Amino acid sequence: MTPEILSFTEFGDSRGQLVAVESCRGIPFEIKRVFWIYGSEGDTVRGEHANKRARFVLVCVSGSCSVMTIEPNGVTQNYRLDSPAVGLYLPAMVWKEMFDFSADAVLLALASEVYDASEYIRSIDEWKASL
Ligand code: TYD
Repeated sequence: MTPEILSFTEFGDSRGQLVAVESCRGIPFEIKRVFWIYGSEGDTVRGEHANKRARFVLVCVSGSCSVMTIEPNGVTQNYRLDSPAVGLYLPAMVWKEMFDFSADAVLLALASEVYDASEYIRSIDEWKASL
């Protein structure tokens, strides 16, 4: 139930870098959905939800952004994602907010579930009440 930084293996040579992940190899779940966020700048805050079932790995593949997490036990952490070789694993039921996006930020999200709006908890009061 704890967020975790994942360091991916980089296959680097004179041509540049390459990172590859697969379901259950580097990513701790079967990947059922991929989406990416870009064009978020300034005071933009995204996320602001918890997921009943979905787990995520977030990778800032370009630029940088911050992620604030609150675990069900109340532990709050801030992560700065600024490397395409690093992922942030988010278990289910973690409250998450993404902010401080650089203008060139592209935040890639790998998810364990297909999109289902009904498994998103978008009110922090509702989330606290459900714990
Ligand atoms: P939202 O959950 O608010 O994005 P974030 O929390 O990452 O800032 O989603 C924005 C819109 O996109 C909302 O109308 C739902 C839709 N959406 C999908 O249709 N599929 C998806 O996989 C995601 C993440 C969002």
